[in-house]
Amino acid sequence: MNLARSWGVPPQNFPGRVALRRRDTSQEPRWRRRSAEHTHGRATAREALRLLGGSDLAAAALTADPDGCPVWPAGVVGSIAHSAPWAAAAVAWERHGVLGVGIDVEAVHPRRALLAERAVMPEDAAAAGPQSSPDLVATVFCALREAAYKCVFPSLRAPMDWSDVRFETDWRRGMCAVSVMPMAEANFSARFGFNGTSVQAICWQSQ
Ligand SMILES: CC(C)(COP(=O)(O)OP(=O)(O)OC[C@H]1O[C@@H](n2cnc3c(N)ncnc32)[C@H](O)[C@@H]1OP(=O)(O)O)[C@@H](O)C(=O)NCCC(=O)NCCS
Repeated sequence: MNLARSWGVPPQNFPGRVALRRRDTSQEPRWRRRSAEHTHGRATAREALRLLGGSDLAAAALTADPDGCPVWPAGVVGSIAHSAPWAAAAVAWERHGVLGVGIDVEAVHPRRALLAERAVMPEDAAAAGPQSSPDLVATVFCALREAAYKCVFPSLRAPMDWSDVRFETDWRRGMCAVSVMPMAEANFSARFGFNGTSVQAICWQSQ
């Protein structure tokens, strides 16, 4: 396995800010866990906003729209993900040429390859190479496709198929060129990293 990018390293060339926070919610009662993860996600988003524009920006309301997308301060695009114990958020200024961003965190489970078969295209498996664990490969491409979905949904407002998002992947460096079928002319990039148990993926659309 040769995933070069590690956690906590700002994704190469992403012209915004990323925050990643760990919080153990496993002691919370099951009925409260979803809301604890939501709160953890919002706290992480505020940290990313503070890094981007200071405490005034971080004080934004961060409500959700009817589709569940977070509502960001004017001029900011962003995305939130939570998969206990991790939460991640990415934000950027539109005036810096970022039209959308999506982030995802996914734990690597032993049966991932079976459950997420549709998320891995033949070219994805080829880029990862035969020495890579199928569960890790499935987690990486699931996370990348979810990140791409979150990136484009706020402008597209329509469902997508897994195969609508295609990657040209440099597995060793954790970098991808991306094409999204319903937005063939748009300019996307993606990065991913692995911390030993979970995968983090980010996808953004540039002008
Ligand atoms: C909405 C979706 C992306 C959330 O992903 P998830 O892995 O369940 O959960 P995550 O923790 O990664 O992300 C949840 C956060 O995403 C954000 N979110 C929710 N819906 C969203 C949307 N439509 N677009 C962008 N972001 C969204 C929210 O901030 C949410 O957290 P919150 O409810 O606490 O505010 C996922 O449920 C989904 O519908 N995926 C699409 C499946 C699909 O079509 N796949 C093919 C893609 S190529």
